[in-house]
Amino acid sequence: MVTISKRCVMTLSDRPKISVFIATSIDGYIARKNGDIDWLTKFNPPTDESEDKDCGFSKFFSGIDVLVMGRNTYEVVSHFDPWPYEGKRVVVISSTLQSVCKQAELYKGDIKHLVEKLHADGFKHIYVDGGATISQFLNMGLVDQLIISIIPIVLGSGIQLFSNINDDKWCRLVTTQAFSNGLVQLRYEVTHY
Ligand SMILES: NC(=O)c1ccc[n+]([C@@H]2O[C@H](COP(=O)([O-])OP(=O)(O)OC[C@H]3O[C@@H](n4cnc5c(N)ncnc54)[C@H](OP(=O)(O)O)[C@@H]3O)[C@@H](O)[C@H]2O)c1
Repeated sequence: MVTISKRCVMTLSDRPKISVFIATSIDGYIARKNGDIDWLTKFNPPTDESEDKDCGFSKFFSGIDVLVMGRNTYEVVSHFDPWPYEGKRVVVISSTLQSVCKQAELYKGDIKHLVEKLHADGFKHIYVDGGATISQFLNMGLVDQLIISIIPIVLGSGIQLFSNINDDKWCRLVTTQAFSNGLVQLRYEVTHY
């Protein structure tokens, strides 16, 4: 019997590096059930002058060259004014949308082919966003780095960061950082075994 693994065999040498930078509640939610992230936007930045006000996001963002997000995330960020991803290529994955705003491009199709296309276009570092989308990339062995910022709040319900994960994903803890506003940031390398 032939067993077909869902894991993608692309390695870092034949694809861009792929990272996640995302905030969750203590109980692992990235948004309320209705998609609201009010708890995140009203969370105060660190007070200590020596710390980045955005807990390292700008530094991370300057190191990526393309952002791939799911349709649900796009529908939230498309209302942000100004557009928060100026200067970066933004790809929205959706099988239902017909168009996206002029700063982004719509992709309908296979994730592996998208990664291959971005590699062929010369992109070196992909930032993946949106819980369901991150989970699919992870299931295909297409996440190298997880940077998770835990916000000191318990929401009780909401949209989970990880869903429908196909098997155990071992990770190696690279760094932890606690900020003066109570945010704790965990940086993991996904070891894929
Ligand atoms: N806390 C944070 O830092 C943070 C960060 C990002 C997002 N968020 C929040 O998280 C929520 C969104 O996350 P989410 O898990 O609901 O969804 P998501 O990953 O943003 O979007 C899921 C959608 O993306 C499309 N998609 C994903 N993979 C696809 C594929 N292989 N082929 C075709 N389409 C694909 C599908 O759209 P179609 O149904 O159109 O096919 C799917 O329904 C929002 O509320 C957002 O504000 C929070």
